[in-house]
Amino acid sequence: MMWRGLLEEYKSYLPVNEKTPMLSLQEGNTPLLPLKNLSEKLDIDLHVKYDGANPTGSFKDRGMVMAVAKAKEAGSEAIMCASTGNTSAAAAAYAAQANMRCLIVIPEGKIAMGKLAQAVVYGAEIFSIEGNFDNALQMVRSLAEQSPITLVNSVNPYRIEGQKTAAFEICDALGAAPDVLSIPVGNAGNITAYWKGFSEYHAEKGTGLPQMRGFEAEGAAAIVKNKVIDSPETVATAIRIGNPASWDKAVKAAEESAGKIDYVTDEEIVDAYKLLAREEGVFAEPASAASIAGLRKQLATGEIKKGSRVVAVLTGNGLKDPNTAIDTAPVKPVALPNEESVVIDHMLGRVKQ
Ligand code: F0G
Repeated sequence: MMWRGLLEEYKSYLPVNEKTPMLSLQEGNTPLLPLKNLSEKLDIDLHVKYDGANPTGSFKDRGMVMAVAKAKEAGSEAIMCASTGNTSAAAAAYAAQANMRCLIVIPEGKIAMGKLAQAVVYGAEIFSIEGNFDNALQMVRSLAEQSPITLVNSVNPYRIEGQKTAAFEICDALGAAPDVLSIPVGNAGNITAYWKGFSEYHAEKGTGLPQMRGFEAEGAAAIVKNKVIDSPETVATAIRIGNPASWDKAVKAAEESAGKIDYVTDEEIVDAYKLLAREEGVFAEPASAASIAGLRKQLATGEIKKGSRVVAVLTGNGLKDPNTAIDTAPVKPVALPNEESVVIDHMLGRVKQ
């Protein structure tokens, strides 16, 4: 049967009523992909939740379909968010479907190209500030207090409701929760949502609870370092956040599940990013690779046990950030003239490159 999107498929778990507009871009139902080569290499049973397969290429669609539907239901005419890129792409897409205005505030020069392209094409009103995500979030939170524009960052509880469905899908696909859930952490909404989802499903169906292992980027590791970072920096621009809004909830998820919030370096992120692509044919954006980098780190320390069943969340599609792909790859195309013999000589390795 055709997948009808999250609001319809999970309506009994979501704040959906007869007045809720059933928006859908057929988000959700994303692959839970077993990674055979890496499982063997790392001596664990590894799957990835490939949320880059969502309609706008990230997990944000899960939360945004819910948040925009509730905004529309309440009679709001406009939504707004601060974003490192993916939230704004998803907000702009669902606002377009719902015929609402969408205002986004982004940190100038720190948005991956694909994400900016999406916001532009979907018709968002884009404000690019000389500050970072944390500054932008502060601004839209202030504006939300003075205007009827609905804030759709993950401080909006409907975002968390929508995003918790990913945990349901994982339990349904595996028959139970995994031993470990490995997930990147930026503003800490998604780890909060997953923990809520696993907890609710367990209460209803006895599916068990995973250890929640969340990974910040080292240059933006506010939670791990237990201090606000005024100038966060990382190659993983999606999680370039120094004062996560759901900080406490992330700590709580880790504590309650006997997991941990940890960090990974940019080098570890880029290594994991390439490893995923080259060993498994899976292209995820750099922030997503923090989940793979993190589990490698904690396998080495023994915090994650060999033989564990691990699900790593791949939050965004690799095509979102083409520049990082090109910049971190040592391999460049070999430029050749349009001459068959020359091309074939190169292809057969007869010419040293
Ligand atoms: N991975 C990707 C690809 C993201 O875009 C984000 C957050 C995260 C992980 C972290 O999720 O914030 O819930 O802990 N992106 C937000 C945005 C901040 O604006 O697109 P989180």
